[in-house]
Amino acid sequence: MLRYVTTNPGKVREAERYLPDGSVEGLDFDYAEVQADELGPIAARGAREAYRHADAPVLVDDAGLFVEGLDGFPGPYSSYVEDTLGIERVHEIAADLDDRRAAFRCTLGYCDGEGFAASPDPVDRGDRDAAAAAGPDAAGEAADGSDPLPVKLFEGYVPGRIVAPRGDGGFGYDPIFEHDGETFAEMDTDRKNAVSHRGRALEKFAEWYADR
Ligand code: IMP
Repeated sequence: MLRYVTTNPGKVREAERYLPDGSVEGLDFDYAEVQADELGPIAARGAREAYRHADAPVLVDDAGLFVEGLDGFPGPYSSYVEDTLGIERVHEIAADLDDRRAAFRCTLGYCDGEGFAASPDPVDRGDRDAAAAAGPDAAGEAADGSDPLPVKLFEGYVPGRIVAPRGDGGFGYDPIFEHDGETFAEMDTDRKNAVSHRGRALEKFAEWYADR
């Protein structure tokens, strides 16, 4: 059984749409979110830590909103910025920009303790130098610089632009993210899932996982 590491039951339901019946369940596990300027290393560290905790195949996701005119900010800091500035402030800052294009990105990290054959989707093998410097830690990376657990990454992306808040649905930045004329908060769940960054990453994962 695959464990989707999240406290959000909506994410588990979304994953169930892509995977065979009864093959995934939620796992409420609070892994340490490292600071990094890309999503991949964050999802990979989380997946290693969750795998060592669960001792079963795990899927961890990390997502964020990347605003073009702000060089990708808030990106991996989206959660922190949502909690501190709030999405209205993010819209106000973007409203002054010439370029309000933005994208949601999601990276899924899968770890089952085994290695991976080559496929177009990348594998994170950890940063040996950083692992050696940090010493043995909760993510289980070896202090002697030996290989940490490999993590397979799947990336999803949806383009859009930042607009004044509209709509009552969804969560997080949904009201200020417009895709194809509608904000994510104006779309019903099925429509949003069909185009969302997470849906696209899950689709790639499910196709690959079917052969695993
Ligand atoms: P997480 O990786 O799912 O915890 O999301 C990181 C940040 O991005 C949080 O601030 C979320 O609210 C935001 N976020 C992630 N996915 C979405 C989405 O589909 N809609 C709106 N905000 C999102």
